Amino acid sequence: MNILVLGGGGREHALAWAIKQNPKCDRLIVAPGNAGIAAIAECAAINPEDAAQVVPFCEENAIDFVVIGPEAPLAAGVADALRTAGILCFGPSAAAARLESSKAFTKQICDAAGAPTAGWARFADVEAAKAHVRTHGAPIVVKADGLAAGKGVIVAMTLDEALAGLDEIFGGAFGTAGAEVVIEEFMQGEEASFFVLVDGETVLPIGTAQDHKRVGEGDTGPNTGGMGAYSPAPVLTDAIARQALDEIVRPTMAEMARRGTPYQGVLYAGLMIENGRARLVEYNVRFGDPECQVLMMRLGAQALDLLLACAEGRLAEARVNWADDHAMTVVMAANGYPGAYQKGSEIRGLDSLPENSASMVFHAGTRADAGRILANGGRVLNVTARGETLAQAHQRAYAMVDGIDWPGGFCRRDIGWRAL
Ligand code: AMP
Ligand code: GLY
Repeated sequence: MNILVLGGGGREHALAWAIKQNPKCDRLIVAPGNAGIAAIAECAAINPEDAAQVVPFCEENAIDFVVIGPEAPLAAGVADALRTAGILCFGPSAAAARLESSKAFTKQICDAAGAPTAGWARFADVEAAKAHVRTHGAPIVVKADGLAAGKGVIVAMTLDEALAGLDEIFGGAFGTAGAEVVIEEFMQGEEASFFVLVDGETVLPIGTAQDHKRVGEGDTGPNTGGMGAYSPAPVLTDAIARQALDEIVRPTMAEMARRGTPYQGVLYAGLMIENGRARLVEYNVRFGDPECQVLMMRLGAQALDLLLACAEGRLAEARVNWADDHAMTVVMAANGYPGAYQKGSEIRGLDSLPENSASMVFHAGTRADAGRILANGGRVLNVTARGETLAQAHQRAYAMVDGIDWPGGFCRRDIGWRAL
C-alpha cells in the first residue's frame, strides 16, 4: 500500500516508524515530516490542514491510506474531504472531532451519555463568568472552549487566578477559541490516559500511558505539551479500565452514533482517578504527543493492521497482541522551553545511538542542514526505549540521552518517578 501520514512531530515519526515495519507498507510519505522522519520516509511539503492540497496530492501519488496525526486537520475537515474523494482515512470527521475542538460540546455529550466528569457551566460573557467563579470559589478550572494548542486551561488554586484567567481568555489571548469559556469543578486524583480505537461502533483498547506536563523535576514549574511519558500506566488498573469503558467511553461513543456523527479513529480519554474510579477530564481525537511514541514502541508493526481495521470498520475482528513490556520516552527540549527559546542549535551524537525495536530517538522538531541536525522547535527529540520493566526502559532511555551532545537543550531526569 501507499500510505500518507499527516503531521511533522514526534507523534508522526513514531507512527511512520511503526507503519514502515509492516510488510503491507510499500511507499510511505509524511507531510510535512521533519529531519528524523526523512530518514525513514519521503517528506512532502504540503499543508496537512488544507484539504485542497491533501486530496489532489493523494490522487497524484496513488495513496491508498491516510493516517491523520494532529487535531488541526481533523477539526478542519480533512478526513471528511478524503472520504468524500473515496480515499481510506484514519481519523474522525470534523463533526466527531468536536469532542476535542469544543469543551462545551464534550460536556453536553457526557451529560447526555451519563458519563462521570467534573461539574460545569458555560459562559459567553465575562461578568457572568466572574460571578459564577465568585459563587463557587477556588480551586476551580477555567477553560477556553475551543482549540488553544493545549494552552487554554487555567487550573486556578485561588479566586484571583481564576478571575485573571477569565480576563485573559475573554481579552482574546486565544482568539476565537476563547469566545466562550467552560468553568469546571476542580477534580482531585491521579491522571492517566486511556487510548482506544473506535470504528463507529466497536471500541478496542490499545494501551494506557501517563505523561509529565510540568517542565520541572518533581512535576513543578510551568505546563508544557509533555516532557515525557510511559506506558502502561500502573494507576489505570484493569478494573478501572473496564469502568472507564463501561461508564465513559462506550456511552459517549453510542451518543455520537445516535446523533448521526459516529466516531472513527483513536480516542484519547484523559482520566482523573480517585478512590478506584475514573472521571473524564477531556477527550482528544488523536494520539497524544508524546504518548503515541510509547504506544508505537510497544505495538510495533501491528499498529498498521489496527489502524486499517479501524478505518475499514473491522475492529470487531481485530486483536491486539499485547506484550508484557514497558516503554518510556524522555522529551529533550530547547533551553528556555516552554518560554522563549532559540531555534537552530546543532544536535550531535544521534548517529551513534541504537535504532531497533527497543530503542529509538523520535524527532519532534528538527531540521537538516548540510548533513547537520538542528533544533527547530520547543520540544525537539523524544528519546524512547522499551524494556521488560519500566526500570529497564528508563535505564535504556537515559543511556541514550547521555549519548546526545546538545548544549542547546535539556530534559527532565525523573520521567516515570511516580511509577518507579
Ligand atoms: P485539558 O486540556 O482539558 O486536558 O486540561 C489540561 C490539564 O488541566 C489536564 O491534563 C489536567 O491536569 C488539568 N485539568 C483540566 N480539567 C481539570 C479539572 N476539572 N480538575 C482538575 N484538573 C483539571
Ligand atoms: N501530551 C498531551 C497531548 O498530546 O495532548
